[in-house]
Amino acid sequence: MKKVLLASLLIVGLPVSALQAADADNGEALYKEVELERTIRGEHYTDANCDTCHQPAFYQREERKVTSYAKLESFVEGCNTNLDVGWFPEDVSDVAAYLNREYYKFAQ
Ligand code: HEC
Repeated sequence: MKKVLLASLLIVGLPVSALQAADADNGEALYKEVELERTIRGEHYTDANCDTCHQPAFYQREERKVTSYAKLESFVEGCNTNLDVGWFPEDVSDVAAYLNREYYKFAQ
C-alpha cells in the first residue's frame, strides 16, 4: 500500500521536476543559434531567427498573449511547429525557461 502511494506521488511530481530541469542557458543558446529559411511578409530571409519577428519588446508588451508559464511553453512550441524549427520537447522547455528568465519572470 505504501509503495503504491509513493509511486503515484512520483508520477504526479513528474511534470514539476521536468519544469525545474529546464536549462535556461541551453535555451538561450538554442534561441540565439536557430536559423530558419522563411518568407516573411513577402520577403525571403535565408537566416531568419526568432528575433526576425520578435524584438525583445514583443515579449514585454501590455497585450501579450502569454499570461502563465504553461502558455509560454505552448507559444514557444507553436512557433517551433509552425516554423519547422525542429526543436525537441526538451529544447522547447529550455527556450521557455530562457524567455521566462529574461522577460516573463513567472514564478515557478
Ligand atoms: C514568421 C514570424 C515568427 C517567427 C520567426 C517566430 N515567431 Fe513567435 N510568434 C509569431 C506570431 C504571429 C505570434 C502570435 C502573436 C500574437 O498572436 O499576438 C508569436 C508568438 C510568440 C510568443 C508569445 C508572445 C506573447 O504574446 O507573449 C512566443 C513566446 C514566441 N512567439 C516565441 C518564438 C520563438 C522562440 C521563435 C524562434 C524559434 C519564434 N517565436 C519565431 C511569429 C513568429
